[in-house]
Amino acid sequence: MTQTPVFPQFSRRGLLATGSALSAALMLPKALSAQTAGAASRGAMKVRKLGPLSVSETGVGAMTLAGVYGPPADRNQGIAVLRSAREAGVTFFDTAEVYGPYTSEEIVGEALKPFRDEVVIATKFGFQIDGDGRDRNSRPEHIKSVVEGSLKRLRTDHIDLYYQHRVDPNVPIEDVAGAVKDLIAEGKVIHFGLSEPSARTIRRAHAVQPVSAIQNEYSFWTRDVEKNGVLAVCEELGIGLVPWSPLGQGYLTGRIDPNTRLDPKTDMRATFPRFQPDALRANRPVVDILWPALPTRRARRPVRSRWLG
Ligand SMILES: NC(=O)c1ccc[n+]([C@@H]2O[C@H](COP(=O)([O-])OP(=O)(O)OC[C@H]3O[C@@H](n4cnc5c(N)ncnc54)[C@H](OP(=O)(O)O)[C@@H]3O)[C@@H](O)[C@H]2O)c1
Repeated sequence: MTQTPVFPQFSRRGLLATGSALSAALMLPKALSAQTAGAASRGAMKVRKLGPLSVSETGVGAMTLAGVYGPPADRNQGIAVLRSAREAGVTFFDTAEVYGPYTSEEIVGEALKPFRDEVVIATKFGFQIDGDGRDRNSRPEHIKSVVEGSLKRLRTDHIDLYYQHRVDPNVPIEDVAGAVKDLIAEGKVIHFGLSEPSARTIRRAHAVQPVSAIQNEYSFWTRDVEKNGVLAVCEELGIGLVPWSPLGQGYLTGRIDPNTRLDPKTDMRATFPRFQPDALRANRPVVDILWPALPTRRARRPVRSRWLG
């Protein structure tokens, strides 16, 4: 599929964001400055069908504004990045209660409040957030309680797309779908989504409350949805697929090599098997296939200070 890059200076980055005809990919346009956004004309970005939704083909994920791949962003800078993205035509913004926790939703809420009617905001529930706790909790009463906090932080009276962040093995998906169905009836939620479900779970949920979007990891180094039936069931049921980490959590940009050391205090990737030196070395051919025109590592942008080594 070919297309005019939205941000011509980011053309190689645009490749992964436009790889699937079904999807609107989530990425953080961190290189997008207020100046470049000002130069871009609003509405220039192509719109894509995402199940019943219409969204810009590149969405903005607000996870890393709250940390995860390094220290959190400065709050005002985060707000400026989101507003710059909107200026450049992005209409699809993704966050979650657990990002921060809470701070990502707060930044999204503040940034987008003046433009609330022009954007689609997605957020996620499904964790018991106590201190640093990350236990799953999708009990219906929990969902109906935490939605109030998300609405407040997002400074809105409705969530356009409300995902279960991770399937809760202790709660039947039918009960989760039923709870979201109730929230939809109350007008607090518009669309139901699931993140990282199996094909079977999608079918079961969809039978109770139609699912509008699935958000699973999907990129050149994570192609599970092609084999596990998720992509097929999305196509069959008319559900949109939102690929998270379309740039392989940064690996596919070519800036990380086997010598890169991530700071385990601030960067969750430091603990991921795929970010250990042997795996980084083994996967390097994927990057070389994707970016044959990349200059040598020496000539690439210097790694930011948040990286060790
Ligand atoms: N549902 C889930 O479970 C789940 C899980 C993870 C993420 N997500 C969602 O997906 C969103 C995106 O996640 P992500 O892992 O892709 O994080 P990201 O921070 O958007 O991207 C990861 C890395 O890709 C590079 N990158 C991102 N945008 C770029 C751009 N415009 N140009 C060039 N390089 C770019 C950066 O690498 P460098 O640092 O090397 O420049 C960045 O560190 C999250 O914000 C969140 O909303 C959902």
